[in-house]
Amino acid sequence: MNKAIQKHPDYKKYVIDSKLQYFKPHASKIEKTFAEEISSSLNRESKFIVPKFFYDKKGSDLFEKICTLPEYYPTRTEIAILKKLKTELPSFIDDSFRLVELGSGASVKTRLLLDIFTQMQQTTEYFPIDISEILAESSEQLLQDYDNLRITGIIDTYEGGLEFLKNYDDKNNLILFLGSSFGNFSPTDGKIFLEKINSTMKSGDLFLIGLDLVKDSQILESAYNDKQGITAEFNLNVLSRINDELDADFNLDNFSHYSIYNKEDQRIEMYLKSLVNQSVVISKSGLLLNLEKNELIHTEHSHKFTLDQIKTLFTSTGFKINHTWLDEKTNFSLTLVSKN
Ligand SMILES: C[S@@+](CC[C@H](N)C(=O)[O-])C[C@H]1O[C@@H](n2cnc3c(N)ncnc32)[C@H](O)[C@@H]1O
Repeated sequence: MNKAIQKHPDYKKYVIDSKLQYFKPHASKIEKTFAEEISSSLNRESKFIVPKFFYDKKGSDLFEKICTLPEYYPTRTEIAILKKLKTELPSFIDDSFRLVELGSGASVKTRLLLDIFTQMQQTTEYFPIDISEILAESSEQLLQDYDNLRITGIIDTYEGGLEFLKNYDDKNNLILFLGSSFGNFSPTDGKIFLEKINSTMKSGDLFLIGLDLVKDSQILESAYNDKQGITAEFNLNVLSRINDELDADFNLDNFSHYSIYNKEDQRIEMYLKSLVNQSVVISKSGLLLNLEKNELIHTEHSHKFTLDQIKTLFTSTGFKINHTWLDEKTNFSLTLVSKN
């Protein structure tokens, strides 16, 4: 048994075949954490639900739909930038690297990196880390398309996955964090998170992060409030999930999706708005939730950055910037950093 598993007895190991294994915390622990976090975040004056809870099976599927929407520029823009890496990334890595990905989701963009890795290496190791069960499904799909791929998945939080990775072995890691998911952190938590990544990394490791850039408010607001209502469905789905998994009685007709760009704080703010005065029971969290008409439950922040802020963010958290790639319209950025 390797060191990482000895250190993490809370994980159950699933070996699917010689190419795929994954680790997952025990089901009772997952449910307990969900119930406790919901109880604490809704039992206060400014109510919130953290965005990691969006991603049950339906939430992950809805997110994939969002990625294809005409208004949702981040996915196609980041893909366009990733395509440039085919010729440029090989000068930063050699064939000793493993690919690790935080919030891998459907691993669609990952394929652009796997194309590079699997061509450079006899066997490529990929460690996706994602809180969603979608990880298992997307890993199986990847294995159908890449013969020389071996996958060790960690179905857990980013922090759990990083702890798992820390001291795992001496192999160099390229850690990916795409989709501007980093923008969900508050500025303070984001810095703490980058310091955590930095302390997980060995001196030869690399970190490649996709960050969304500040732009016109209208472009931003329509990206998070699409005409087809898929983002609204995604936002409301978290209440269905709480109903299903925590025995709650949210009536989804009594809520609406609300999102707005806060220019001063450079972030999209996403909420669920209560349309009536109402009470909701969340049995497994032991909570009777009273909501007033127009009261907001905060569900997501998506921070946007300037290039100067990105520079400061990394230099102040112990990194040096190796390279930044941008799209033609400077809508999105990909930054490669290493430990300073
Ligand atoms: C915005 S999606 C991005 C997916 C993909 N990387 C992309 O760029 O299209 C965020 C992904 O991270 C996962 N996720 C969100 N919060 C997480 C957390 N705290 N820990 C682990 N995974 C998380 C979700 O399940 C989802 O697959």
